[in-house]
Formats: sequence, C-alpha cells, structure tokens
Amino acid sequence: MKKSTKENVLEALLETSDYVSGEELSTRFGVSRTSIWKHIKKLKEEGYSITSVTNKGYSLIENPSGIVESLLNHDLSMLGIDTVRVYDTIDSTNLEAKRQASKGVKSGLFIAREQTLGKGRRGRQWVSSKDSGIYMSLLLRPNIEPRKASMLTLLAGLAVKKSIQEAYGLEARIKWPNDLVIGKRKVCGILTEMNAEIDYLNYVVIGIGINMTKQVFSEDIQEIATSLSNELQFEIHSDTYETFIVTIAKYIVTYMKQLEIKGDLSFIKADYESACLNVSGELKIEARDETYTCQGLGINELGELLVEKTDGTVKAVYSGEVSVRGLYGYV
Ligand code: BTN
Repeated sequence: MKKSTKENVLEALLETSDYVSGEELSTRFGVSRTSIWKHIKKLKEEGYSITSVTNKGYSLIENPSGIVESLLNHDLSMLGIDTVRVYDTIDSTNLEAKRQASKGVKSGLFIAREQTLGKGRRGRQWVSSKDSGIYMSLLLRPNIEPRKASMLTLLAGLAVKKSIQEAYGLEARIKWPNDLVIGKRKVCGILTEMNAEIDYLNYVVIGIGINMTKQVFSEDIQEIATSLSNELQFEIHSDTYETFIVTIAKYIVTYMKQLEIKGDLSFIKADYESACLNVSGELKIEARDETYTCQGLGINELGELLVEKTDGTVKAVYSGEVSVRGLYGYV
C-alpha cells in the first residue's frame, strides 16, 4: 500500500537527527512546501515535537508518548478502515464515531487519550481519565441484518480477549456477553451501538474501553475493577498500544467478514465458550420481569446464553434483556 505524504515526511524526519529543509522534502515527495508545512502541523498535533528553524528546516526532537495516529494508518487502511483519528480529549469516541458516520464516513477508528463523557452500557458512565486507558470506537458497516448486530458484541469480546493474550500474555475471560475480566475483576467494557432501519443496518459503533495503566481504583469499584498493568505488576509501555489496537481491529474485522458470510456465530462458538465464564456453574439472571437462578450451559449460534432453570427447562437468554451474575459476586 502506498504511503501517504505525512508518513513519508515522518519517515524522513525519523531517518536523521539533523534538520531537513522544507524545500528538500517538497522536491523529494513532489508536493508544495505549503503541503509539507501542513503535514508538519498535523504531526505536531499528534504529539510529535518538531522544531522549525528558518533556513535550516524541520527537526524531530522526540517521539510522542501515547497512541500515534500515523503509526495506525497503514495497518488500518490494509484492513479497509479508511479514517483513523486520535484525539487528546473528546466527549466520547462512540459519539464521535456516530458524528463521523452521519457525515458519510464509511469506516473508521476513533481513539482518545481522555473522554469527558465516556459512556458505559445501560446509561452508565465509563470513567476515562487521561492516559490511563485505551478508549476506542470502531465504525463499521457490516452487511448483516439489524437483528444480528448484537453478535458483533460477542465477536468484539473474543477479539479483545485474544489480543490481550497476544500482546501481554494475560488470560482474560469473557463475562457474557462481552465484559472482560481477569480473576474476578473487570478490565475491559464494550458498548456496541447501531443505527438501523427496521430491515437495514446502516452502521455499528463498537466502543471499547480497556484499563491499561497501574492505578488505584476508587473505593466503590476497587473490588470489581483492574487494569492490565495492575495484573502484570509493572507499567505497560505505551509504545505497545498501537500494535495492541491494530490486533484488536484485525480480529474484529476478520470475524465480522466471517459473520457476513456464515450468517451466525457457529464459527467462533467453541472458542467463545472456552473463553467464557458463564457457560457453566450457577448463575443469577436479572431480567426485566423476573430474577432466577439457573445453570449456565453455553451459547447458541445467535450468541444467546443457554441456561437451565431449576425446573429443568432450557432457556435462551438475549444479551440486551438481562444482567448475569455468578451467585457470589460480580463474575
Ligand atoms: C461497559 O462495560 O459499560 C461498556 C464500556 C464502554 C466504554 C468505551 S470507552 C470507548 C467508547 N466510548 C465510550 O463513550 N464508551 C466506549
């Protein structure tokens, strides 16, 4: 895939510790000096420290810390994701993905270092303090019926579980439908939203929040929250974030394409069940109209949780309608 001018400019600056003139860059990449200046401005906005000195040109002082947009662009465009944006601060990456979708953006990845209005499931808040987690939303337009959109939530859970394993060697498990827990504590939450007509899915936004850095959680969630660095007992370097994010996106896009072809979740059922906590053991289901204890059995091809009630009847539970707990706490 052809590199963008911004990527070429960045590479030219990374190659040398010396100054590179705007003229040299413009001749080398066949664009105007104004265009070079605009790309330098964009790189600065992404966090690169670039000095400019009259008659000498531009020089890169240091790499930015945290997630860098230009390092994600190439891999994501290979996945067919055409827009990638990293924000220092934003209300919510899910909201941003929806705004971009309504402007006609086909697919995108929106990431923020901080969210001021981070959204959790069921109208809850998702605390998103600066640089302590990865806050990302994928905008996709899968070719599936609206009633199947909730399946993407399960796919995303499995995608993050596998990516955590590959990037950091930690064994997270899935609390159906898509919370990720390590031990008994939650490390990642996923909020999938969709825009659809009765029979046509316009787009989905898969919002993923992962606690990354070492942190002390507030008293009310101390027992139920953790972060990847807390679990590893050392601080994960933010240099690894881009690879981690790309791995998550790769899994999600690959799974989404399989879902488009197969039409159900049979292709990940076994994998999902071995990663999921609630497919066995006693559970408490809190549905809108009833609360009952039952035995977890597995999931079906639609991603519903199969449970056996005490009277022996087997019920398929739909993710939107319930809250699932083990009998003895959060998981
Ligand atoms: C939950 O477990 O309640 C879901 C949490 C989802 C949080 C993520 S962070 C990135 C994206 N933007 C949001 O506002 N929410 C999701």
